[in-house]
Amino acid sequence: MNPSEPPHSPSRLRAIRSFVLREGRLTSAQERAFAELWPRFGVDWQAGRTIDLPALFGNDRPVVLEIGFGNGESLAQMAEQDPERNWLGIEVHRPGVGHLLLEIERLGLTNLRVMRHDAIEVLTQSIPDASLDRVQLFFPDPWPKRKHHKRRILSPRMVQLLSRVMRPGGIFHAATDWEPYAEQMLEILDSAQDSFVNTAGPGRYAPRPESRPPTKFEQRGERLGHRVCDLLYRRL
Ligand SMILES: C[S@@+](CC[C@H](N)C(=O)[O-])C[C@H]1O[C@@H](n2cnc3c(N)ncnc32)[C@H](O)[C@@H]1O
Repeated sequence: MNPSEPPHSPSRLRAIRSFVLREGRLTSAQERAFAELWPRFGVDWQAGRTIDLPALFGNDRPVVLEIGFGNGESLAQMAEQDPERNWLGIEVHRPGVGHLLLEIERLGLTNLRVMRHDAIEVLTQSIPDASLDRVQLFFPDPWPKRKHHKRRILSPRMVQLLSRVMRPGGIFHAATDWEPYAEQMLEILDSAQDSFVNTAGPGRYAPRPESRPPTKFEQRGERLGHRVCDLLYRRL
């Protein structure tokens, strides 16, 4: 942003994002992954284009979407353990995307595809109505300072987007190690009663499903002594 621009110029009024893009360096293996594996497993962002999910995966199995997969190791593990589902991961951090591409190759996965873009824009513009069987949001950035709470990705707006893209009976699964954020998630999701029901009962966290492998950020939280909360909601 040009500091000499007036405060209300269009570039200053751009959307508040849930991430700050730190590009980071790619390893040479990740560079190769973008060159060789992206054409096969990557999904290019195109504004306003709706993704044809059965065409993307070559079948019409149920689709699981993971938002903000980090280095993607737990996502790759879940996709390997559940080949009857199709898996789509979205992440903005390039080294994380490169890392997941390498995991796809290492594990020989055919049921996982990757996007590198803002998940909110993808949900808004690219995912068809009632097309997702499950959505996963594991350890989203907690933005602990009050002035940054507006950057938290789980918001009433996101819940509205989820209610459009998820099929009835589908599951939204969130997990966090930041208790004030967990409480806020409960409040937001429990009040979306027209669209979602808390599988653990109102105001309650769910037992951690065995199918969720530990993630990198979860392990960091645990080292810091944080309690981990899982939230599971069924789309009505
Ligand atoms: C705290 S990390 C957690 C990563 C991983 N889920 C884990 O548990 O190890 C949150 C991740 O979400 C990604 N992220 C944040 N907002 C996003 C958005 N709007 N679209 C896609 N990815 C996003 C960040 O780049 C970051 O890698």
